Amino acid sequence: MFGSHFLTLADVTAQQVAQILETAQELKAKTKRGEAQPLLNGKTLIMIFEKPSNRTRVSFEVGMLQLGGNAVILRPDEIQMGKRESIADVAKVLSRYGDGVMMRVVRHTDIVEFARYATVPVINGLSDLFHPCQAVSDMLTIAEHKGRLEELTLCYIGDGNNVCNSLIYLAQRTGMRMVVSCPEGYEPTVRTTVAPYEIINDPEAAVVGADVLYTDVWTSMGQEDQVLKRLRAFEGYTVTEALLKRAAKDAIFMHCLPAHRGEEVDDSVMDSPQSVVFDQAENRLHAQKAILALLLHNAG
Ligand code: CP
Ligand code: NVA
Repeated sequence: MFGSHFLTLADVTAQQVAQILETAQELKAKTKRGEAQPLLNGKTLIMIFEKPSNRTRVSFEVGMLQLGGNAVILRPDEIQMGKRESIADVAKVLSRYGDGVMMRVVRHTDIVEFARYATVPVINGLSDLFHPCQAVSDMLTIAEHKGRLEELTLCYIGDGNNVCNSLIYLAQRTGMRMVVSCPEGYEPTVRTTVAPYEIINDPEAAVVGADVLYTDVWTSMGQEDQVLKRLRAFEGYTVTEALLKRAAKDAIFMHCLPAHRGEEVDDSVMDSPQSVVFDQAENRLHAQKAILALLLHNAG
């Protein structure tokens, strides 16, 4: 069991990461065998979305159903958190109805504020700074394809964004080496003293020998006004077939999706046999069921 909320991974230990991954593997195997997993019978997850979503929204809802519970979805126009009602009051009210809250927020500080007042577990389904559920699903996917995590090299190419920050934490907790290749000024905000990683600005040098090549969009949700500046800044950082060839022979390609094909990654890489992007998308379901089961099973 880990802390009462799941916001950043900063406070999750290596042992707890191993426990989440093990639980996810067990739940995935049960799902494939068609076995019932009524761990959250009668429990309700409330989900707040301040930004669009496909994978997070659907996998959390399906996950709750598979665990015997249910989910309520709230869009920003319905809840108007911080406008119609203070974040603290929304947190106190929703804690009276639900057994847990999953949130996708514009500002990370808002989920921290919400969690301070919530009396049920709060899960980060993406903020401007972190995407911890994605990183857990990614580790599950890497372990499935490589048979281990320790001593592998994960090379992340592109924007040092929310996805990159969360991968840095989990690489450290699982004994992976992490190399980030980004233009100057787009480095991850997680400090190297907290979770060590290497920055190699030149992507051609950074990918050499990598077991995992990972990229994400250059313009994240909420940064649309910077799109032209970013297209210029990230020139040369596209994951092409030529770049993939410089990685280890059996390297896998990963992307959290949605992808902007032709920008950060070419079609030929996205659709190549080395690409595991749809396994990653599937594993959001299994990883999050593990997080939900561990957080909500004994809570309340
Ligand atoms: N990867 C991910 O979080 O996808 P969505 O934005 O579609 O939820
Ligand atoms: N970095 C992207 C991830 C989307 C899942 C964003 O924040 O938009």
